[in-house]
Amino acid sequence: MEPSTETNKEEEEQVVTPWEVAGKDGGKIDYDKLIDRFGCQRIDQSLIQRVERLTSLPAHAFLRRGVFFAHRDLTEVLDGYEKGEKFYLYTGRGPSSEALHLGHLIPFMFTKYLQDAFKVPLVIQLTDDEKFLWKNLTIDECQRLARENAKDIIACGFDISKTFIFSDFNYVGGAFYRNMVEVAKRVTYNQAVGIFGFTGEDHIGKVSFPPVQAVPSFPSSFPHLFSGKENLRCLIPCAIDQDPYFRMTRDVAPRIGYHKPALIESLFFPALQGETGKMSASDPNSAIYVTDSAKDIKNKVNRHAFSGGQDSVEKHRQLGANLEVDIPVKYLSFFLEDDAELEHIKEEYGAGRMLTGEVKQRLVQVLTELVERHRAARANVTEEMVDAFMAVRPLPHMFD
Ligand code: TYM
Repeated sequence: MEPSTETNKEEEEQVVTPWEVAGKDGGKIDYDKLIDRFGCQRIDQSLIQRVERLTSLPAHAFLRRGVFFAHRDLTEVLDGYEKGEKFYLYTGRGPSSEALHLGHLIPFMFTKYLQDAFKVPLVIQLTDDEKFLWKNLTIDECQRLARENAKDIIACGFDISKTFIFSDFNYVGGAFYRNMVEVAKRVTYNQAVGIFGFTGEDHIGKVSFPPVQAVPSFPSSFPHLFSGKENLRCLIPCAIDQDPYFRMTRDVAPRIGYHKPALIESLFFPALQGETGKMSASDPNSAIYVTDSAKDIKNKVNRHAFSGGQDSVEKHRQLGANLEVDIPVKYLSFFLEDDAELEHIKEEYGAGRMLTGEVKQRLVQVLTELVERHRAARANVTEEMVDAFMAVRPLPHMFD
């Protein structure tokens, strides 16, 4: 366990920080409690319909199905958009491993939809410094992983004329650093301990990091993009584990003359073993990676995906599957695009007319297709493309 989260654990029983996600007594995450504790809002049907009206597009499945379930100030961003005021998107990745797992893809797939639907610019932060500070990796290794992860991110299909990807080690300085220091001066050590759970044993590198993730929320951190547009609003898609960084940012923003960034936040894509938190990087069998082969996917799903089906076929036909705890159905509800087919599977499986093996077989197909598509897209990403996305340059067509 990270020593830095112990205080949170005692007080709150379930732990959700950028570094640890664990349900109470090893159980499920209680997202209602989390919304209350963090002070965000639930995304309701009327907000989803408003997004559809404003974009003239059906809402992304992640929005329709409640994967992105919470927000902060999304209404304000949409109010402005309706009046013709654009905004920009900001998301990121901490490059701590060679390959992304399916959970990591979720915010990027959703951000791609938002970029296309609203026709807005996007900045993507690669926190290679964060991973050096938190993990047992060298700076060189973190920088290498940042570039490797950038390839996976580019493979999600972002528009190069609207997207700037940067690594902290390469980009921090100038206007970005000025904003970092403005933020740092306004957060006390006690506040940082309260928000992030740091202890006296944590090195000061960790304590001083949060402003780095905070300031991409301010347009003035990117003079080559937003010079003269300092009033632009920022919308951040991420899973809810990143919320502490942005609670801190939102607290400071008005005090230094900036808008509070808005957020749109997702649930966690669960581990194969069950819905008790995020997937674990240290257990390769807990997650499907974008580098997994068709055979790996089949083995992992068949051997490790927690089933809500009954022990014997007779009992299953009689009682049906418990869909609440069933991982194959949970995974399909993220990645099976066809709403009608998903409903059909839930109905048949829940009533015991469909068996776990059949649901798993369909899931293996869906995930294999998704991973194969990603692999093919990534294979087409060249070093030159990475350089082009990461070049500090103006984006003259970013709002077209
Ligand atoms: P990282 O690399 O841990 O995660 C990258 C993104 O993936 C989300 N995520 C998940 N989403 C759904 N299900 C999961 N199981 C799951 N695991 C991770 C994370 O919330 C994140 O959106 N410090 C950050 C990097 C960062 C960032 C940002 C993220 C810098 N600026 C702005 C979001 C927004 C990190 O280490 O993410």
